[in-house]
Amino acid sequence: MVIVYLTESYEMKPFDCGDADLNGFLLNDAKLYAEKKLAYTYILEDDDRNIVAYYSLLNDKISKRDASNATWRKVKKLFPHRKHFNSYPAIKIGRFAVSKAYNGQGIGSELMNQIKQSLVENGNYSAFRFLTVDAYLTAIPFYEKNGFKLLLSDDANEHTRLMYFDMMEL
Ligand SMILES: CC(C)(COP(=O)(O)OP(=O)(O)OC[C@H]1O[C@@H](n2cnc3c(N)ncnc32)[C@H](O)[C@@H]1OP(=O)(O)O)[C@@H](O)C(=O)NCCC(=O)NCCS
Repeated sequence: MVIVYLTESYEMKPFDCGDADLNGFLLNDAKLYAEKKLAYTYILEDDDRNIVAYYSLLNDKISKRDASNATWRKVKKLFPHRKHFNSYPAIKIGRFAVSKAYNGQGIGSELMNQIKQSLVENGNYSAFRFLTVDAYLTAIPFYEKNGFKLLLSDDANEHTRLMYFDMMEL
């Protein structure tokens, strides 16, 4: 399997992860997001060049106002007192999906490890401390298994929860 960076010339192939929004983003929006510098998309292909999974990345931050008091106290403890800010830099995993054909085989976790690793290897240009994701409620166990924590346990948005991963845990 190989990870391919999505460019304008990428020949899109069918993809179904079981979620219409995530399918639609890849098929209809991902190239435009790249062109407009809103998010960059990466595609995991199998040996026959079928799309196994994809993810999108963009810059982000975690903010005090998005966290519960208890969680923000934990976040602040990661930094010396004189570096207690109201927000910290992050990279957001804007989209993350594994094809139904490959679901539940450990590919999502393996891909998440590769994302973390490649961000460590290529992350010296601009600092970020956290990964963030707006996790579907059904996917929270997946992210928890991959080291993400909830910033706020009762986000107003009913479909997703904001989660974060501390890159210093690697
Ligand atoms: C959530 C998703 C990315 C997980 O990818 P995956 O390759 O199936 O995950 P893994 O095989 O590495 O499984 C790791 C853990 O994820 C969870 N998980 C697995 N399949 C899942 C599913 N369909 N839905 C939610 N969680 C799931 C389980 O807790 C699993 O742990 P276990 O192996 O101990 O049971 C994938 O199921 C998917 O793309 N679902 C549809 C789109 C989606 O929800 N994307 C996340 C948007 S925030």
